[in-house]
Amino acid sequence: MAAPLLSPLARLLPRGAVNSSSLFAQQYKSARSFLPFVSTSSSYQSNNNNNTLRTFTSSTANMTHDKTSFKDAVKHRRTVYQLNKKAPVDDKKIEEIARVAIKDVPSSFNSQSTRLVVLLKDEHDKFWDIVKDILKVHVPEDKWEHTGQRIQGFRNGYGTILFYEDPEPIKKLQTSFAQYADKFPTWSEHTSAMHQYMLWTALESEGFGCNLQHYNPLPDQRAAAEWKIPLEWSLTAQLVFGGEEPGARENLPTKSEVPIEERLFIHGA
Ligand SMILES: Cc1cc2nc3c(=O)[nH]c(=O)nc-3n(C[C@H](O)[C@H](O)[C@H](O)COP(=O)(O)O)c2cc1C
Repeated sequence: MAAPLLSPLARLLPRGAVNSSSLFAQQYKSARSFLPFVSTSSSYQSNNNNNTLRTFTSSTANMTHDKTSFKDAVKHRRTVYQLNKKAPVDDKKIEEIARVAIKDVPSSFNSQSTRLVVLLKDEHDKFWDIVKDILKVHVPEDKWEHTGQRIQGFRNGYGTILFYEDPEPIKKLQTSFAQYADKFPTWSEHTSAMHQYMLWTALESEGFGCNLQHYNPLPDQRAAAEWKIPLEWSLTAQLVFGGEEPGARENLPTKSEVPIEERLFIHGA
């Protein structure tokens, strides 16, 4: 039986919620989980920042990902929300990084299923205007200020990378390696995540601030129409990047940390 056609918002709801009589309440409850992704006390401790790692201050502002060690780049990466439209490198450099990602980031069974759509300047603004338009319809008036400000924060950035997965290579692999058929969709998500992390880290190494968002599937159809993106491709994430506002890193919250000993186990060293 064909799957019923659901609105993008309804598709975000838990199964069964679409038949609920209090659909709007459910939608809003669900919408909240993807609207303002606010750092809560469970994920962060206080605002007391002991970020000892070097920041891209004047002395390191000219560091590029060609020169930064991988370890430093990994340590430097954070979620940065206070962004502006001042790019620390030119668009050619962004393109070069995106090309390296597409060419050299590994994929499951070498599926090469990831598709990147890089939106800069006006095109970036357009994307967040699309998201804002859609959310405006669903978010109650009295909650709009917070959501609107959040979206404006992303729009204040310089660019957004849209991460898609193309189902075609995945389908081929499912046919060729039937014994793993049920695993390929998961591995496709892993492949996307590899690209996301590489680009996040590389762009921060260039002096951009970045944050990762998940407003899909809300903007999927309009984005597809706007940038001629095949509707079959599945949007998995959006990486927002831009110049860092002065003090943006000083205000980063200290992350709560589960002890490393509870998460890392080394045998045989
Ligand atoms: C897989 C993944 C999904 C995430 N999704 C979101 C998101 O939807 N919105 C957001 O603002 N941050 C998102 N984040 C950022 C995390 O909250 C953040 O990376 C985490 O709290 C650690 O903080 P740090 O990035 O400053 O190290 C995501 C991060 C990861 C790795």
